[in-house]
Amino acid sequence: MKLNISKVTGFVPEGKIYANKQSALEHVKALYEKTGKGNDFLGWVRLPSSVEESELSAIEDVAAFYRQQKVEIVVVAGIGGSYLGAKATLEALSDNFWQMKDSEYPKIIFAGQNISEDYLYELLDLLETRSYGVVVISKSGTTTEPAVAFRLLKAHLEKKVGKAKAKDYIVAVTDGKRGALRTLAAQEGYRTFVIPDDVGGRYSVLTPVGLLPIAIAGFDVRQLIQGAADMQQATAPGVAFEENIAAIYAATRYELYRAGKTTEILAGYHPKLLYVAEWWKQLYGESEGKENKGIFPASVTLTADLHSMGQYIQEGLRNIFETVISVERTAHKLRIPPDTANLDTLNFLSDKRIDEVNKMAELGTMLAHVDGGVPNIRIEIPAINEYNLGKLFYFFEIACGISGYLLGVNPFDQPGVEAYKKNMFALLDKPGYEEESRKVKVRLQQ
Ligand code: PA5
Repeated sequence: MKLNISKVTGFVPEGKIYANKQSALEHVKALYEKTGKGNDFLGWVRLPSSVEESELSAIEDVAAFYRQQKVEIVVVAGIGGSYLGAKATLEALSDNFWQMKDSEYPKIIFAGQNISEDYLYELLDLLETRSYGVVVISKSGTTTEPAVAFRLLKAHLEKKVGKAKAKDYIVAVTDGKRGALRTLAAQEGYRTFVIPDDVGGRYSVLTPVGLLPIAIAGFDVRQLIQGAADMQQATAPGVAFEENIAAIYAATRYELYRAGKTTEILAGYHPKLLYVAEWWKQLYGESEGKENKGIFPASVTLTADLHSMGQYIQEGLRNIFETVISVERTAHKLRIPPDTANLDTLNFLSDKRIDEVNKMAELGTMLAHVDGGVPNIRIEIPAINEYNLGKLFYFFEIACGISGYLLGVNPFDQPGVEAYKKNMFALLDKPGYEEESRKVKVRLQQ
């Protein structure tokens, strides 16, 4: 994996980026030595190099159980950090048309990431005629969206196969000791996995939160961990700034931010990467967006969005920069056929690989956007696979920790997320919210 910032230096001189060398390296050290803000949430830093064999085996056992039982669907209920890492990995690694293809592995469907009645109704309707299991993931165990979904799923499964059998098909991933889900799992006798105390939701993809759904879907979690462990080593304290791509990425985006580039657009040229961008948006949005500071994380899938967002990127408000995830090799090869009529005048592309056209679109777009005033950072990965995704996840996580510290915020809390919950509970007349309830109802009338 490589980082290329050559198309940034026309906007921010390299000297300015490298002026952050000392502080960026100190922040790497602070993440390891737990001396910075949010230091009780740094368990993810050494996670790749410390994952225990017993945990991986237990995860693989559950995956094998569902497979042996020929379970068709496993519904994973979770939201935010308890959803996006697994979703991103499964989308990236799966066949683009997996829904339509047979597989020896259960299909993973997500729930609890919204409160849409139609979504949940249609899900239960589908599950009526399918064999299925449920993995419920919530660190707090009290998050409304997955808790509502799990109520429905639990009741549905118990009705369908009986309470005694249902418990064998339900797995809970939650806090080791506390929370409603931990209590429920103990009462019902569910198999459980622990989300470590010191790992926050958006940094938890390499815990059972991400690993369990990924293993159930048939992907190699050991390769994912290996990639992350190699990236941990490549970005650890003691690695020179010039060699530490996470520190360089953090320093680059920090200087772009100081130069007025307050929106970062993560761009990919493969639809499979769409949810990697969603995961990345949560990671950076929740980590940096506080105290009236922070780069706004946005994303596009190209070339599709060149026909929608492309106009804005090229000529809109000049407060944006772009970070492209560039994939060197595709999994498959396909060439464009010649056509004797050539009505579309595309015979100059005859026999060219589709990926060559995609790559030229990528390079052409980069130059056009740079010409339009949009600095471009390129993250180059050799291919989309478990190993490289592991590297990419850890790279973004450690760079996010450094970025938050450069900005002067605590990148490991999310106090702002509570505001909507308070109003929602007040509007729903939750006991204990009586005073708030009166206030919000008056405000809605104004
Ligand atoms: O990053 C975070 O901490 C959040 O996005 C959480 O992951 C999200 O709110 C879900 O929380 P929980 O796992 O407690 O249900």
